Amino acid sequence: MKTLISGGTVVNSTGPIAADVLVEDEIIIAVTTSGSSLSVSWGEGADRVIDATGLLVLPGGIDGHTHMEMPFGGTQSADTFETGTRAAAFGGTTTIIDFAIQSKGSTLREGFERWSSKAQGNCFIDYGFHMIMSDVTDSSLKEMDALVSEGISSFKLFMAYPGVFYSTDGDILRAMQQAASNGAMIMMHAENGIAIDVLVAQALARGESDPRYHGATRPAVLEAEATHRAIQLARVANSPLYIVHLSATEALGEVVTARDKGQNVFAETCPQYLFLAEDEMARPGFEGAKFVCSPPLRPESYQRELWRGLRTDDLSIVSTDHCPFCFKEQKELGVGDFSKIPNGLPGVEHRMDLIYQGVNRGEISLARWVDVTSTAPARMFGLFPKKGVLAPGADADIVIYDPSDTRTISAKEHHMNVDYSAYEGLPVTGQVKIVLSRGSIIVENGCFVGRPGAGRFLHRGLNAFLE
Ligand code: URP
Ligand code: ZN
Ligand code: ZN
Repeated sequence: MKTLISGGTVVNSTGPIAADVLVEDEIIIAVTTSGSSLSVSWGEGADRVIDATGLLVLPGGIDGHTHMEMPFGGTQSADTFETGTRAAAFGGTTTIIDFAIQSKGSTLREGFERWSSKAQGNCFIDYGFHMIMSDVTDSSLKEMDALVSEGISSFKLFMAYPGVFYSTDGDILRAMQQAASNGAMIMMHAENGIAIDVLVAQALARGESDPRYHGATRPAVLEAEATHRAIQLARVANSPLYIVHLSATEALGEVVTARDKGQNVFAETCPQYLFLAEDEMARPGFEGAKFVCSPPLRPESYQRELWRGLRTDDLSIVSTDHCPFCFKEQKELGVGDFSKIPNGLPGVEHRMDLIYQGVNRGEISLARWVDVTSTAPARMFGLFPKKGVLAPGADADIVIYDPSDTRTISAKEHHMNVDYSAYEGLPVTGQVKIVLSRGSIIVENGCFVGRPGAGRFLHRGLNAFLE
């Protein structure tokens, strides 16, 4: 099957060029000057020619932080691997890396197998796994080595959620030492959960039970403190560190300091911290629960600093932390007690469009948009150069994007399996037109033509920033 994508502006993380993309079966064969003799002859023999005149042609988005079918707070995140990967594809994301969970008392392998059985045969796009380590023991540390060789090359630990996912500093240090020896990346949920639990209990005792107290009891300083501590532990272990879902300027400052000293510390932020502010949690009635996630939304003034961090590469990646819970019946579990609201926001469908608004507003360049949403995640999580770039030999995961189409985000139109949108009513300019996953069209002009089970498990390598 030969495909020619002609006349578009190809945008890699190196910048935009006028070029044609030649695809054979699942793989990109060439990216060549528009109208070159190679592309003309390829077009003559092609089974399919896609006219991308006036459109952008990008490597498919890679969302390195999702939670499909994740048990949390007595319920489960509302998107399955089927609904979640379909929604992701609509938004121009062609790879997700989801978090498999090791439950306390179980092995890492049991977690990996449980998540594999949920995902296998159900994903519309390619997928990989990070592993959440909830139980750091001699045997789970040994298991890390085996999983790295099976393509699970990153492990998330939590400084938050005592009694659930929480790890002590000693556990964290041991996991980091293991990562230093096997090449894995330690990902950190950096919030001081022990101190937060004290503040939560005190707030509830005062009768402060509304959603806005979720934010008030998770102050930015406790994110910064945990970020600082994680960085120092990684320094002692001599391991790289990746801070997930960074929300606070104060935490960003810790990352900047470490990076300026030459430490291999990386961080991601998420669209919710770039577009939504803490006052959302104080909406009337229980509406604020729609915006409860951890770390919480921050003051609006923080957004400017996060965009700056993306420009300067102190923030390497934008992932969604997609963890959707319906307002009805799921978020409502926390009526009368904010600490029982399941934490997380939906977002996998809108990441590419939202971050493109940063291009429209002059916050980041086109090239940087592609970098933070595709190329950097591919390099960070061992998928480059099969993913994250339009170049010969890469998988033909391709998004054809109309930079000038406008619309308004609404739950009425989204494809995520959740009854609200955190971005309801937000106007966006820019829209996915066509999505190819390994050479097959899966989205075309708003219609979905993908096949469940077409998505493959990705055996990931090691972080390419450290090579
Ligand atoms: O609120 C959040 N972030 N929910 C998902 C779980 C996590 O900590 O990433
Ligand atoms: Zn987390
Ligand atoms: Zn998460």
